[in-house]
Amino acid sequence: MSETRELIRAALEAREMAYTPYSHFKVGAALLAKDGTVWRGCNIENAAYTPTNCAERTAFFKAVSEGCREFSAIAVVGGREGPVTEECAPCGVCRQVMAEFCDPDDFRVILAADEEHYSVYRLRELLPQAFVPSRL
Ligand code: THU
Repeated sequence: MSETRELIRAALEAREMAYTPYSHFKVGAALLAKDGTVWRGCNIENAAYTPTNCAERTAFFKAVSEGCREFSAIAVVGGREGPVTEECAPCGVCRQVMAEFCDPDDFRVILAADEEHYSVYRLRELLPQAFVPSRL
């Protein structure tokens, strides 16, 4: 199976863990590290709403908190409860977190409906003119 398909499958599995009693919108992410590790994440909502964490950031924070900071790609799947029917674009906050750790011209963002239907973007396309550490 191709690396992209494997990542999409992992993101779909991660989506099963989404905790979404408020929006009922379930997102899964699978983040591929340069060492080959795949970090999974789901969205985790909260009764106070704003503490909600997106799937993409869950995956990044799991990885970074374990000492992993170099990444090649992330697959994201999301949609209302039930099967995913269309691509789910990462929110601006998640794009900003990607920009902290990933090369804008190298890191791939795979937005998928399923293993056969997906689009691949470079991070720079999704977050042009990013505010990155080198701008501080
Ligand atoms: N969500 C994600 O997990 N990732 C995104 O990129 C978009 C939004 C979550 C947050 C919230 O739990 C639900 O989707 C609806 O916004």
